Amino acid sequence: MSLEHLLAERTHAMGASAIREILKVVSRPGMISLAGGIPAPESFPMDIMGELTERVMAKYGPAAFQYDATEGFAPLREQLVGHLRQQGIAACVDDITIGCGSQGVLDALAKVLITKGDRVAVESPTYLGAIQAFNPYQPEYVSLATDDEGILPGSLEACLASGGIKIVYLVPTFQNPTGRTLGLDRRRQVAELLRRYNALLIEDDPYSALRYRGDAVPAIHTFAPEHVVYVGTFSKILAPGLRVGFCVAPDPIGRWVVLAKQGNDLHTSTFNQAMAAEYLAGGYLKRHLPRIIDLYRPRCTALVGALKAYFSEGFCWSDPDGGMFVWVRGPEGLDMEAVYNRAVARGTAFVPGRYFFADPEEGIETMRLNFTMCDEGRIDRAVKILAEVVSEERLRV
Ligand SMILES: Cc1ncc(COP(=O)(O)O)c(C=O)c1O
Repeated sequence: MSLEHLLAERTHAMGASAIREILKVVSRPGMISLAGGIPAPESFPMDIMGELTERVMAKYGPAAFQYDATEGFAPLREQLVGHLRQQGIAACVDDITIGCGSQGVLDALAKVLITKGDRVAVESPTYLGAIQAFNPYQPEYVSLATDDEGILPGSLEACLASGGIKIVYLVPTFQNPTGRTLGLDRRRQVAELLRRYNALLIEDDPYSALRYRGDAVPAIHTFAPEHVVYVGTFSKILAPGLRVGFCVAPDPIGRWVVLAKQGNDLHTSTFNQAMAAEYLAGGYLKRHLPRIIDLYRPRCTALVGALKAYFSEGFCWSDPDGGMFVWVRGPEGLDMEAVYNRAVARGTAFVPGRYFFADPEEGIETMRLNFTMCDEGRIDRAVKILAEVVSEERLRV
């Protein structure tokens, strides 16, 4: 007997992630993968996990294993106030809600904000996980035009002026999938537009701490806190498996996020939140972050260097100051999915870029390359193979 008819209407909007399917292929032994989007296991502070655990046990005892407030573990929320202040983000404890990763926060925000048919403005291309969080609530997506510096404020203005935009969703710093960063002037313009049109931005910021060169750019939240839900995470600066993320939300959105979360999981793991609290309180993040940056910086340089060395004319790529991704655009007519199939046969993987666009006709000639999971030698070898299979595919077309 089929039980399909029992599924809710919104369930059909969920769909499997094409990238998950790709990641299954690339976990084959021997594959060099530039496909993943995850931190290197050697970036986790394994040498201090024991000490952190002991601190948590000594300081909080059974409270670290008890049910806790949906808003989040109080010592973590208090630590986050200071942590955010260092980035220029003014928040008090009550503004902060802890979630199961930033993904959990995005899911709660979607539940609270999106009614079927609402218009949600997103960068083109954008982070697929956000689309997956939003899809069950059946919004209509409006794509914002971008260039090498992220969204064009003119495109946002036209979109907001057309009316009916419920939420704007952006990853302004070291974006997934492109690695691009929105410059200071554009951030100010975006903030001004949010104010002028009384609009709400979800500013998803998992990567800004991973900066390998240049000066930090303030979050858009700093320019228009009453119009921005700022979303952050410990996934890239501690460990993603702990599933600790957070948001700073203007009233009343934060309060509704708490209620949405209550119905979903009651609260995020108390023990894991306590680990994150001690990671900040004990100064461990300050000591460990430079080690993560020292690990990733040469990988990023190696990837961009290999593209310069092996890729011929007709290709361009982002040259990110941080984060985990480089975005490559090939000549029109080159199908990166065909390149992907050839590359996998040669033991090398990446993600074809078209999966990151709302319109399936867009981004055929693009690819996302991740540099956190391979050392410099493997990155060089992978890019050389990619350049070879790209040439084969170009000859065929
Ligand atoms: C832009 C963006 N947002 C959110 C997430 C989810 O991160 P987490 O739920 O681990 O905090 C990711 C993960 O890769 C991401 O790239």
